[in-house]
Amino acid sequence: MAINEQAILKSELRWAWVVAGIVAIILGSILFAALSMHMNPPSNREFVDPKTLHLSAEFTEANLGTRIDPDGRVVARVITTQFEFVPNCIVLPAERDVTLRFATPDVIHGILVTGTNVNTMVVPGYVAQVHTKFTKTGDLLMPCHEYCGLGHTQMIATVKVVPPEEFKPDAEGRASCGDDR
Ligand code: CUA
Repeated sequence: MAINEQAILKSELRWAWVVAGIVAIILGSILFAALSMHMNPPSNREFVDPKTLHLSAEFTEANLGTRIDPDGRVVARVITTQFEFVPNCIVLPAERDVTLRFATPDVIHGILVTGTNVNTMVVPGYVAQVHTKFTKTGDLLMPCHEYCGLGHTQMIATVKVVPPEEFKPDAEGRASCGDDR
């Protein structure tokens, strides 16, 4: 069979349409995930000094865990460190906008909350922030998903999502998982 220029052009055009179709599907999936499932790349850019993380301001030990901030937002602050989360359990209300803020004094960690859209890297020098709204209640696992050293596999925490009416912060606006943890 003779191959002429016309046939080559036709074949190339066909492949161009196939590629355009695949690109459209990929872009469509990204748009779909962003708009309907709220899966977006982290957009927060905020610096924090990893050397003085525990000494000053936001990420001192007394400040960690869940708290209602003065502006009414529910914020959980967690330090990810080799090889644990501090605290290793946080309590948050379902059906309510919540903010999770993470910082690390040592190496890069990654966190995700199973079954939710919460997933971010925690890079030294930056505050990793995620806004979300949990729809299901229960104890959700929050493992570290970025290899951070020999103890990486033991690095796991719990996000205790309770019904809104069971979320009872104390007089200072703090809520914790309780003594059983
Ligand atoms: Cu922290 Cu892996």
